[in-house]
Amino acid sequence: MSEFLVDLKRTHACNALRMSDVGKDVVLMGWVANRRDHGGRVFIDLRDREGITQVVFGPEIDAAAHELGGELRSEFCIAIAGRVVSRVSSGGQPNPKLATGEIEVNATRLHIFSRSETPPFLIENEIDTREEIRLKYRYLDLRRPSLQRNFQVRSKLYRATRDYFHGEGFLELETPFMVKYTPGGARNFLVPSRLNQGSFYALAESPQIFKQLFMVAGFERYFQIVRCFRDEDLRLDRQPEFTQIDVEMSFITEEDVYSIMEGLIARIWKDALGVDVPRPFLRMPYHEAMLKYGVDKPDLRFGLELADITSVLAPLEGGGVPLFKGALEQKGIIKGLRVPAKEAASLSRTEADKLEEFVKGFGARGLARARVGENGEWTQSPLSKTVTAEAREAVNKAMGAGPGDLLFFQFGSFKLVNAVLGGLRLHLGHKLGLVPEGQWRFLWVTDFPMFEQTEDGRWVAAHHPFTSPKPEDVQYLGTENGRVHARAYDLVLNGNEIAGGSIRIHQRDVQAKVFAALGLSEDDFRAKFGFLLDAFRYGPPPHGGIAFGVDRLSMLLCNAQSLRDVIAFPKTQKGTDQMTDAPTQVSNEQLEELGIQLKKS
Ligand code: AMO
Repeated sequence: MSEFLVDLKRTHACNALRMSDVGKDVVLMGWVANRRDHGGRVFIDLRDREGITQVVFGPEIDAAAHELGGELRSEFCIAIAGRVVSRVSSGGQPNPKLATGEIEVNATRLHIFSRSETPPFLIENEIDTREEIRLKYRYLDLRRPSLQRNFQVRSKLYRATRDYFHGEGFLELETPFMVKYTPGGARNFLVPSRLNQGSFYALAESPQIFKQLFMVAGFERYFQIVRCFRDEDLRLDRQPEFTQIDVEMSFITEEDVYSIMEGLIARIWKDALGVDVPRPFLRMPYHEAMLKYGVDKPDLRFGLELADITSVLAPLEGGGVPLFKGALEQKGIIKGLRVPAKEAASLSRTEADKLEEFVKGFGARGLARARVGENGEWTQSPLSKTVTAEAREAVNKAMGAGPGDLLFFQFGSFKLVNAVLGGLRLHLGHKLGLVPEGQWRFLWVTDFPMFEQTEDGRWVAAHHPFTSPKPEDVQYLGTENGRVHARAYDLVLNGNEIAGGSIRIHQRDVQAKVFAALGLSEDDFRAKFGFLLDAFRYGPPPHGGIAFGVDRLSMLLCNAQSLRDVIAFPKTQKGTDQMTDAPTQVSNEQLEELGIQLKKS
């Protein structure tokens, strides 16, 4: 008798059969998604990674198959052979929800490859099982159709990326994971060296320096789909190991980076989703993004723009509002967010009160607000008691405020005000239903500041120290670091930073000035990056690049809520793997071999 796998090969995937296949003999393989008994027959939904087909076992179809069919339970792994029939002709009902819903297969043979214990949760899309349990049994979680789809999309993303870059003359090259530890940047994971006791490798946080060395080596166009490691505090859009599409190019400017990367995105969206993305993408300087949206990764799918009213209130010395006056005296800024009357009408007073609690999560001490009346007067607001008519009118004008609008204010440091109002804008956008589904709003954010000042007044590189300053700002290096802009860019999609990069420094004199501006001697830098400085003595080409966060891209492509829905075996918020229990303790012998002693706690 013919045998499954050997003679009886699978003929179709479980989403493939249609009315046009009625009468065909087929072989299907997969998992029992569920089983129902009906009028002496056994019905199962057979599931594979592509979809579901209904299979029927009946005594009149095949007695032996029917008898064995009675043993089937959820998640048994099986093969069936049988004939495709129309559900309606067999006295059944079509299922419009299934691609194969008009047919079923009358099984004449059944083979059980393996039986399954009752799984700890249902293998279905809509389940409310705790994530901990899902991650512990991740191989079952991954069987769920929604996750299967996510990984198919992710695989298409990889394929589109490789096809595109090979077509554009890029070489796919690899860089080491175990690298020299360099302070600064993200916190590194360390790997002890057995052969060099007391010394450690770092796991690469990105291939940054190596890809620049590829340019010195003359490879001209490089890309790599590469794992990066960062020991950061985790959030929904951050994992300790994540994947980048990493790119570096020689003899280019920002314009070349933009157009080649827009081509990549268009290709990915077309191949993975069948969507045509309009190009070129919008561009916005960093300062405009901060001014209007309070963040450097604005979600442009909705309005609710912020207004900076510092320059309106400064000449009026706070316009009669002591808190505004105080903020101005402290060299702070004052910004407002206007919710238009139509949306403001749906925000009750209690709901507006709740927003005060919400912004405290961003470090705010409170949230001043006012409702605008028929004649521009402010109501429902302690501000209304002291604000002068002149200030109120000037603020209304600057914010474009009219009757029924709700105004929120925040004052203090640039960082705090923007964090609070930027966060509030996003929150309100979602709460008020202003964020449309199915829109892809790509945006290049450009002209980032080159340096950031720490709380103790030190200057640090905002991107990394090899990022080129804008040529016209080189004159301010060291004297007015705050005025220096970088040739750096981020690509933002619907409020998520999906890529970041820059044109790099290739001139020694500029590099020396940047080191000096950072308060570092060449010797300090030599200790960290000597090999790069050495390489740059031998004719480095002008170059630049970018890296995409693949997990974030996949999350957005799949409309998933968390990176964990697009990473096959992700870590939890605490950096642990629920399935394997990593990280674990190791034996004293292993530690001994590495020359490591644990501190007694
Ligand atoms: P950057 O640090 O901006 O740039 O990283 C590039 C992109 O990687 C993604 N990303 C992450 N995704 C998930 N989890 C994380 N912990 C995480 N951290 C970053 C983001 C980000 O935009 N070498 C430079 C690039 C360059 O200059 O060419 C770099 O790594 O989507």
